[in-house]
Amino acid sequence: MGEAAEMTKPQTVAAPRPGEQTFDVRLRALIWEAPGVLSLELASLDGKPLPAFEPGAHIDVKLPDGTLRQYSLCGDPNDLSHYRLGIRAVTGGQSSGFVHRRLRPGDVLTVSTPRNNFPLVASKDYIFVAGGIGVTPFIPMMRELSARKGSWTLLYCNKRNEDAPFLKEIEALGGTLSLHASEAGTRLDVAQRLTTPQADTVVYCCGPEKLMLAVEEVTAGWPEGTVHFEWFAPRSRPSDQVSGAFEVVCAVSGITLSVPPEKSILEVMTEAGIDVPRSCEQGICGTCECRIIEGEADHRDSILSSSERAANQTMMTCVSRAKGARLVLDI
Ligand code: FES
Repeated sequence: MGEAAEMTKPQTVAAPRPGEQTFDVRLRALIWEAPGVLSLELASLDGKPLPAFEPGAHIDVKLPDGTLRQYSLCGDPNDLSHYRLGIRAVTGGQSSGFVHRRLRPGDVLTVSTPRNNFPLVASKDYIFVAGGIGVTPFIPMMRELSARKGSWTLLYCNKRNEDAPFLKEIEALGGTLSLHASEAGTRLDVAQRLTTPQADTVVYCCGPEKLMLAVEEVTAGWPEGTVHFEWFAPRSRPSDQVSGAFEVVCAVSGITLSVPPEKSILEVMTEAGIDVPRSCEQGICGTCECRIIEGEADHRDSILSSSERAANQTMMTCVSRAKGARLVLDI
């Protein structure tokens, strides 16, 4: 997630997933990367290296105002002296406003260990499509590819090229860079660039919903598994999506629960005393993913690919529901 969208619902840090931890870090530097964009450098309190991460990974950040947000790690995975995040100030955005106005070097924040829902798959060639701050997960990917002498192209969309975050750093990485500025009339022609599948090439996209939906539409004919999206806000759903009641059997806990239309599976399980890991509660982080033993999920998350949805092996319990009357989950 290039930048967690400004979600209105304050969240609290829940139990981490097995193997995940939360820990405190110190904000060691705040750096202006572009108009309205700050990078944050976070270091451990004891000076030791931070937990390792892969390109595409993100962390949860608990801000001092109690809100929890997910941000992509845009630093160098080979330099664990600090994590780097890029955060754009969003108009009316509570969290980004807090970060920009209130956070100062020396402040201590609680973060999670890195989680990767957006890994770099093996391919001969890569096309990255980034809208503004959505470029952040791609920076470590492009760095790694350049180090391997791999081939990549970044289609980088901004209002103005001079506002493009991390531009100098990206230029120095040496891939093919195509800049698109809407105010300059050089907006990316998504259909022209991406409609035809390219051999041995994968596409990665992160940015505003309009860009993501356009890329999703024009790449519909690409082979399965070659187009990857990182949503940093929940994708829009049809407003008439039906949310009926259903039953969830928690196989490990041995409890059967009734999920009413107005509540999520996650909420109902939590009320029943089942400790379910969670973070975004909007279907974008993957923390609450749960294995399906029986029944068919009505997937409403912004993470699983169409083939993963069809496989019906796991679901995000914070937003997804049941297609039938009953689900049996491995929890
Ligand atoms: Fe983030 Fe469910 S809590 S996807």
